[in-house]
This record gives sequence, structure tokens and C-alpha cells, in this order.
Amino acid sequence: MKIVKSIKEMQEISIALKRKGKIIGFVPTMGYLHEGHLSLIRLAKKKSDIVVVSIFVNPMQFGPKEDFKRYPRDLKRDTKLARKAGCDVLFIPSQKQIYPDRFSAHVNVEKLSDTLEGKFRSGHFKGVTTVVAKLFNIVQPDLAFFGQKDAQQVVIIQKMAQDLNYNLKIIVAPTVREPSGLALSSRNIYLAEDERKTAKVLFESLQKAQSVIEQGETNSFKIIHEMEKMILSKPKTIIDYIAITDSKTLEPLEKLSGEVLISMAVFVGSTRLIDNLKLKVK
Ligand code: PAJ
Repeated sequence: MKIVKSIKEMQEISIALKRKGKIIGFVPTMGYLHEGHLSLIRLAKKKSDIVVVSIFVNPMQFGPKEDFKRYPRDLKRDTKLARKAGCDVLFIPSQKQIYPDRFSAHVNVEKLSDTLEGKFRSGHFKGVTTVVAKLFNIVQPDLAFFGQKDAQQVVIIQKMAQDLNYNLKIIVAPTVREPSGLALSSRNIYLAEDERKTAKVLFESLQKAQSVIEQGETNSFKIIHEMEKMILSKPKTIIDYIAITDSKTLEPLEKLSGEVLISMAVFVGSTRLIDNLKLKVK
């Protein structure tokens, strides 16, 4: 596995690979790799000739009161894990390279970035799309891999790629969970033991919603109310939002139909967790 720190070198590697007709698969991450990230790298390995993984904790997508400074980092461990999972090129640019002095261009996907997570994390998705657009231009992948764990991120990046004519295919992989149902996240490390037990209620509430929907319930308000009751029955939980929306437009649905996305953000203690489930309603 090659470790690349310079943007120019990464671009040159990609151009040379493309000239040889190699399929480049790309997995962007912020590091502190877990099975969720590794599942994306393994999938990329299956579908591409060369797998590029980036690790960059992107300051632009963190709010001023968020956890940029304390976001977990362990490059040594990440390097080993990425190599084992099948990464060929590990791209780890510095902050200075990605955002040199007087950096001023941004990419923003309007509307989709302002709803759900965007309502609670102002500017977050503008930071995500700006860095992902830059990474796409640097790595020039044929395939780019993202996790369903961040459902809104996927929808926004797909729209960005479409609207800005990126010549690549976005592949979405399912959410990897602990046996308890808790979705893996680099932020789970913040959870105390009792909080980790509580945190599984997010997925339990999604499963409850699924079973109520399978029994024919189509009223969003009732389903959300059930979920809220379940979550708030646990200690130290605060709900930012629970929403049932169309899976593509992210518009709220009063009555369920078609492909729906149930998504939520919940604080367990001081840790903010997100989870979601995509369902087809008959
Ligand atoms: P990060 O949170 O490190 O996640 C990197 C990729 O791993 C994302 O596509 C995310 O959806 C996926 N992922 C995280 N947890 C997962 C899980 N439990 N199961 C499956 N996939 C999972 O998302 C970001 O970084 C950043 O916003 C980034 C796209 C790199 C831009 O900075």
C-alpha cells in the first residue's frame, strides 16, 4: 500500500492509472476506521482495480461548537486496517494543502442541505460537498463508495455528482451494526458503558417503526410518536429530530408511500448519534 500526502502526487498517480485503463474505486473517510469503513474498502476492492482511501478530518464540516478538535484520530492503526482491507493508495493530505490560505471556493447543494441534519448542523453539508468535490477532482475515481449510515450525505453527494456532471458512479453500502443494533460510528468511542446500552434504542425504534408499517400503518405522525416514546423512556436521551421523508427528495411525508427514509438524530448523554432505515411502502 502506498501512502500519499501530496495532492499533486495523488493526481499524477490517478492520471497514470486512468491512462492504463484501470478502474479507480475511492472511499473517502475521516479516519478512526471501523468495520463500517472497512466494509466500504472491501466492496471497493471487489469492484475496482485500484482502491484509494482518503483520511482527512475535514474542519469545514464541523460547526464551531462541534467536536473537530476532539474527533478521534489514530493514523497508525488506520494504516494497518486500511492495508488489510485492501486499500492500494492511502491519501492523507494535510489541512494546509486542502485549505491553503485565502481558500474561498465552495460547493453547496441547495435545499437538500438545509433539511434534517442541515437544520441542526448549519453549514455541515456545504463543508462535506466542498471537500468531496475537491477529493473527486484529486482522485478522479470511476467509482466512489459511501455508507447508508449517512443517508442524507448520500442523497446530497449523488445530487452534486449529477448536477456538476462528475463522470463517476456512486455506490452505496449498507449500514454496519454492532450485534446490539447500534450503528458503528467513530463517535461511539465517546459513549460511556451505560450510554452504549441506551444507544441501541435508536435502532430498536427504527425496527419498531418497520413492524408498525408492515402491519399497515401509514400515518407518519403516529409512527414518529411511537418512536419518540421508546427513545425518551431511556435515560439521558434528547431527540434532535425523527423524520419520515421521501428517500430522494427528503420532503416530509404525512402519509407513507413509495420509498421512504426514516431518519433521526438523538443525543445519548453528550454524544449525538444518527441512524436511519430506508423502506419500500406498498
Ligand atoms: P466518515 O464519518 O469517516 O465516514 C466515511 C464513510 O464511511 C461514509 O461514507 C460513511 O457513510 C461510512 N460509514 C460510517 N459508518 C458506517 C457504518 N456503520 N456502516 C456503513 N458505512 C459507514 O462521512 C464522512 O466520514 C465524511 O463526511 C466524508 C464523506 C469523508 C467527507 O469528509
